[in-house]
Amino acid sequence: MVASLSSLGYSLPDALADLVDNSVSAGASSVDVEFTWEGADSWVAVIDDGRGMSEHALVTAMTVAARGTATDRATTDLGRYGVGLKSASFSQCRLLTVRSATAGGIWRTRTWDLDVVERTGEWRLLHEPSPETGRILERLTEGRAQGTVVLWQRLSGYRGVAVGDQKTQQQFYDESEKASAHLGLVFARFLNGSSPLALRVSGMAVSQWDPFLSAHPSVRRLPVERLPLDGHMVTVRPYVLPGPQRLSGEEAEQAGGPKGWLRQQGFYVYRRNRLILSGSWLGLRGLRREERYNLARVAVDIPAETDVQWQVDVRKATVVPPVALRRHLTRIAGLVRTSASEAVRTRGQIAARQHGGNLAFAWNVRRSDEKISCRINRNHPLVKGVLQEGGADPARVRALLRLLEETVPVSALRVLHEADTADDPEPFGGPGEADEHANEVAKQMLDVLVSQGRSPDEARRLIRTTQPFDQLIGFWNH
Ligand SMILES: Nc1ncnc2c1ncn2[C@@H]1O[C@H](COP(=O)(O)OP(=O)(O)OP(=O)(O)O)[C@@H](O)[C@H]1O
Ligand SMILES: [Mg+2]
Repeated sequence: MVASLSSLGYSLPDALADLVDNSVSAGASSVDVEFTWEGADSWVAVIDDGRGMSEHALVTAMTVAARGTATDRATTDLGRYGVGLKSASFSQCRLLTVRSATAGGIWRTRTWDLDVVERTGEWRLLHEPSPETGRILERLTEGRAQGTVVLWQRLSGYRGVAVGDQKTQQQFYDESEKASAHLGLVFARFLNGSSPLALRVSGMAVSQWDPFLSAHPSVRRLPVERLPLDGHMVTVRPYVLPGPQRLSGEEAEQAGGPKGWLRQQGFYVYRRNRLILSGSWLGLRGLRREERYNLARVAVDIPAETDVQWQVDVRKATVVPPVALRRHLTRIAGLVRTSASEAVRTRGQIAARQHGGNLAFAWNVRRSDEKISCRINRNHPLVKGVLQEGGADPARVRALLRLLEETVPVSALRVLHEADTADDPEPFGGPGEADEHANEVAKQMLDVLVSQGRSPDEARRLIRTTQPFDQLIGFWNH
């Protein structure tokens, strides 16, 4: 049973989110996640100031599915199956201790030691923590009158690890950072508002990540839709994010999110304000992630009464869109994807309009079959003039060059570049079709510069500092 509970596919951040769910459901206003490195004795704890549990409630909490789907729940309860605490914990540790106190009550403690369970073949819920566990609990509850501590010891993957093992120690703290970022995404809606939740990881406030840049003036909001589902309403809010030319470098990086632009496009599904699923087109037919839809993000709020229809899982990490809504969701996705791709496409053209007056666009940026093409418009009057037989009047060529310089569609390339690298650990400079193209252009430039009497090194230096080559990280490394 333990094996099956813990094999649901929890990552550490997922598992912690499940504990924070419980703290939020218990009305906590502050939640602390602590990571303490002690080699094989490292531990992780979640401490909240929620309403806590009586001894009876504590035993129920430690029992699998004692509060199941048939239980009546408050509208602020994020739980559903009565499994989360156990499954999340056993996915990460073999020693689970929960200490809890209600207002005016005393602290009560219960422990599942899976080694004891295994040894005795019995579900022995222990009352007395070991002295070491007791000391940790004392420290974590010191000065607190009520609330709950969930403590994980004997963490999976850390068995036999020495305290001095710095590599593993670093991994441990990396996990804490990942967890913080994940919680900032999943509980973002709880982290602002009139009485925000104080959520900290290792003493540092978790910063919320808002996928929709709600505060940014250039976000486009498409009409909100309310879709009826078995007597309840599912609310869908589509957003087209501002493109990189309207964001500072830092803002663009931040807005890209934990998984990067490409993997953050799509639907964000919320249940009771808690994010379940982020950046997914929900497996809807014909909807794939594509770079040109990077600016499309859609918030979907599902009522907890429709959990069954959405097939919400125990981890609260996936949903399957109900058949009755698929057509609507596909239609809305189509609208927001079209708007998003138009927003990307017009970028190079806007630059042309600004610098080239009413002339046609100098650049055509296209992406097809995984290939970025960035072509000069042969029909542009200046280009046409230069290409005319016997044409090439130096003044005209200079003008053309100036036009091209002023209209380099850097922003569009940046979007495509980010999209390209999102799935690919190799930087843009790695061997690939897109930069083979750039390579060819650079080679021509090199030839011209050398034929003008510059040394190859000097020419290379020049090209490296010229747009767009200055943006292609590692361009000259191969
Ligand atoms: N931090 C906490 N403070 C107060 N009560 C808690 C806390 N954590 C758990 N509980 C109690 O223990 C019960 C079991 O928690 P558990 O996470 O296993 O299931 P659940 O939250 O009811 O449902 P789900 O499986 O969907 O998470 C909760 O319903 C709640 O009553
Ligand atoms: Mg729960």
